[in-house]
Amino acid sequence: MTVKAIIFDAYGTLLDVYSVGALAERLFPGKGAAIAVMWRDKQIEYTRLRTLCDRFVDFWQVTGDALDYACEAQGVDLTAAARTALMAEYEELSAFPENQATLTRLQEAGLPMGVLTNGSDAMIKAALGASKLDGFFDHVLSVDSVGKFKTAPEVYQMGPDAFGCAASDILFVSSNCWDICGATWFGYHTIWLNRYEQPMERLGVEPHARGKSLTDVADYALG
Ligand code: LAC
Repeated sequence: MTVKAIIFDAYGTLLDVYSVGALAERLFPGKGAAIAVMWRDKQIEYTRLRTLCDRFVDFWQVTGDALDYACEAQGVDLTAAARTALMAEYEELSAFPENQATLTRLQEAGLPMGVLTNGSDAMIKAALGASKLDGFFDHVLSVDSVGKFKTAPEVYQMGPDAFGCAASDILFVSSNCWDICGATWFGYHTIWLNRYEQPMERLGVEPHARGKSLTDVADYALG
C-alpha cells in the first residue's frame, strides 16, 4: 500500500490514559490502578451506550460520569477537589515517550497526519498542547462534529473527508483493538499497536499490520 496520510487515535495511542493512576493512587492509596482501569472501561462503555441510544454528550462529560462511577464502585469518597484534580489530569495526560521522535520522522517524510478521537474539541486540543504534540497534525478531528462516538461509521468518515482520499489509502493507527476493528470494517488500512500484550478481539476482522509502539508505525509507513 502507498500511504497517503496517517490518522492516529488519541487516548491510549498517543496519550497514556493510565497515567492518571499515579494521582489516583496518591489520593486513594491502594486503589489508584483499579480506579484508573475502571474509569477507562466505564468511559468507553458509556460512549457506546450513548451512541447506540442516540444520547450524545461530549467526552468530557462522559469522562466525568465514568470517574464518579469508578470511585463509588471502588468505595472511595471523591471530594469536589479530588474530582477537579483528576479531571485536570485528563487535560495533560502523559504522551508515550517515543511519540516526538516518531512523529518528527513521519513529518519530515512529508506524510500528512491527523488525529481522530472521541475526545471533545477542547479536551483534545488541551491534551495535545500539554504534551507538545499539537504541531504535527494537519487535522485534529473530534466526534463533537458528528454527535456520535466510535465506532459509528460517521466518525470514521471524517478521515477521508478531511484528507480528500479513500480510507484504504489512509493508515489508521490505534492501540485500542476495538477501534482498529471498527476502522478496518470501515475500510481503512490499519495497524494495531498492542501496547499491553492483549489478545486479538474475536470479531472476525484482522488489522493489516501489528506493532507495539509508535516507532513501528514509522517503520511500517516509511518501509
Ligand atoms: C479515542 C479513544 C478511542 O481517542 O480513546 O478516540
